[in-house]
Amino acid sequence: MKKTALLESEFKTKVGKILRTRQMTPLEKLFEIALPGGESLDHLPGQFVMVSLLGVGEAPISVSSSPTKRRSFELVVRKAGRVTTALHRLEAGDEVGIRGPFGNGFPIRYLEGNDLLIVAGGLGIVPIRSIINYTIDNRRDFGKVTILLGCRTPKDLLFSDETDKWNHRLDVMFECTVDRGDAEWDGNVGLITSLIPGITLEPDRTFAIVCGPPIMYKFVIAKLLEKGIPERQIIVSLERHMKCGIGKCGHCQIHNYYCCQDGPVFTYDKIKNLEEAI
Ligand SMILES: Cc1cc2nc3c(=O)[nH]c(=O)nc-3n(C[C@H](O)[C@H](O)[C@H](O)COP(=O)(O)OP(=O)(O)OC[C@H]3O[C@@H](n4cnc5c(N)ncnc54)[C@H](O)[C@@H]3O)c2cc1C
Ligand code: FES
Repeated sequence: MKKTALLESEFKTKVGKILRTRQMTPLEKLFEIALPGGESLDHLPGQFVMVSLLGVGEAPISVSSSPTKRRSFELVVRKAGRVTTALHRLEAGDEVGIRGPFGNGFPIRYLEGNDLLIVAGGLGIVPIRSIINYTIDNRRDFGKVTILLGCRTPKDLLFSDETDKWNHRLDVMFECTVDRGDAEWDGNVGLITSLIPGITLEPDRTFAIVCGPPIMYKFVIAKLLEKGIPERQIIVSLERHMKCGIGKCGHCQIHNYYCCQDGPVFTYDKIKNLEEAI
């Protein structure tokens, strides 16, 4: 049933101060933001915030840092249009409006004690980084952790400093692939789906978490099902056009779900028959 009561906090925009920016690629920029008084955003991995600039507009952006980082949070913004281009002009010391966090996020408590297979494609690494770092910071709460990462070319690889660290951990299995390599790349070349057949997992105790461009889902999910992972243990994060973020405008509707509230995280069994979902 949809929530009908309006909470003041859902409309309230807090003024976030940009502490640090980092141009990651020509199109992607990282922002570290603090809320007034160092208040914690108190988000779950997989949730998003509505970021606004006065006179320009508002856009949903996933929180990329782990909730274990308390006094500030990180967003990575790809320059796509009006709001995101204006955001790219901002630097440390500037202010942005922050509403949220919104969405359901990944079901952390439910995942505890199980093995995780995390599959991220392209910009999907941005929200997925939050759950990866949360898992690493609470490593004893989870079983085997496997991370598969794919992107178009080595230059598109975000957070290579962190992915290097994940790669060197003994308690995490990490594999990365690019669609097209270059002269310096000596890693895997091929689509992210090419990494799945080679991994060993116990399907009954494995939860797969998938986030990436729309085209990726169908093919990745088919491979996960071939591996025997049950449909209800395949968790996807979907992206839809959003306006309000709080289930009022209908912009993000997928059949009977509002992506902003019922999602953006769904288990595959819930959405597999909804034509427009994947
Ligand atoms: C839950 C959620 C989490 C997101 N997380 C991130 C994130 O972490 N980092 C990030 O860079 N972006 C993220 N996005 C996408 C981001 O919200 C859009 O790129 C942004 O709204 C574009 O706003 P704009 O005003 O700059 O572009 P506009 O001027 O509104 O549009 C520019 C172009 O992008 C298209 N577009 C706009 N929104 C979307 C969308 N949601 N999906 C596909 N195409 C779109 C438009 O049709 C247009 O062609 C997320 C979206 C959702 C729904
Ligand atoms: S964004 Fe308005 S209903 Fe979801």
